[in-house]
Amino acid sequence: MTTASRGESRRRIKKVWKSQPTMEGAGVHLRRAFGFQEVPQLDPFLLLDAFKSGNPEEYKRGFPWHPHRGMETITYILDGEVEHGDSLGNGGVISAGDVQWMTAGSGIIHQEMPKGDRKGQMWGFQLWTNLPAMSKMMDPRYREIKSSEIPLVNTPDGASVRVISGEVAGVRGPVRDIVTDPEFVDVSLPAGKSFRHQVKEGHTVFAYVIEGEGYFDEGRDAFARQEVGANYFDMSRQCLCATDTVILYEPGDTIAVTAEESPVRFLLASGKPLQEPVAWYGPIVMNTQEELQTAFEEYSTGTFLH
Ligand code: FE2
Repeated sequence: MTTASRGESRRRIKKVWKSQPTMEGAGVHLRRAFGFQEVPQLDPFLLLDAFKSGNPEEYKRGFPWHPHRGMETITYILDGEVEHGDSLGNGGVISAGDVQWMTAGSGIIHQEMPKGDRKGQMWGFQLWTNLPAMSKMMDPRYREIKSSEIPLVNTPDGASVRVISGEVAGVRGPVRDIVTDPEFVDVSLPAGKSFRHQVKEGHTVFAYVIEGEGYFDEGRDAFARQEVGANYFDMSRQCLCATDTVILYEPGDTIAVTAEESPVRFLLASGKPLQEPVAWYGPIVMNTQEELQTAFEEYSTGTFLH
């Protein structure tokens, strides 16, 4: 739905912060939007990394062979490409506009090597979602979604939305049947336009600004500013959120984003919280320390893949 209905409860901003520069893999410079330190605030989401660089030295060493278990990784590429391969012989290239939705389940050992475009530009994201206890040891699976398979929806309000998973204006994304029932969309909003979107009531919802700036809480009404005066607004909730900002929402069923002077582009995700204990070390995310220990023992003795 793009038009808010009567009786809606708008989601207010709970918290905003900026992603932080860090290094991962064999020396990939990236920005971490959230990760281990934020657990369990974004349940079922575990981590979001953004990598954007015009210098191959900052990404070409990539993410050599490593295991995953008990979680999913969603790789979304906007520029350049990522070559990937796993120990079962699966492999391929995630190109600009493509998504790879990998459910590690009981275990995958893979490598992920970013390659820039002809000019050396690389831009992409990796989101980690948790799996519930009952699905942690499920069979691993990949979904490779080519750019052309991702619908681009132009909403009546003027937003352009790439729907990877979930539904916008009656259009469903190609990634379905995921345990945490996630929605994952890429929203572009021209200056002066708004995006109003219904989200599932009990889900965790966050946005990450990838370009430009916008207002992510309609409680701050840009167009009423002169009429009611500056003091009317709660300053913490009317922030203009710029590139690299994470916006975590309060409960509710609708979010509204407005671009004023400049356009804004952001990723929006929602997912069903698992509310289970998280035992996390590196790329393996289980429920107990014992399960973690088992995973690393299996990895070191060559019995990791089931
Ligand atoms: Fe990985």
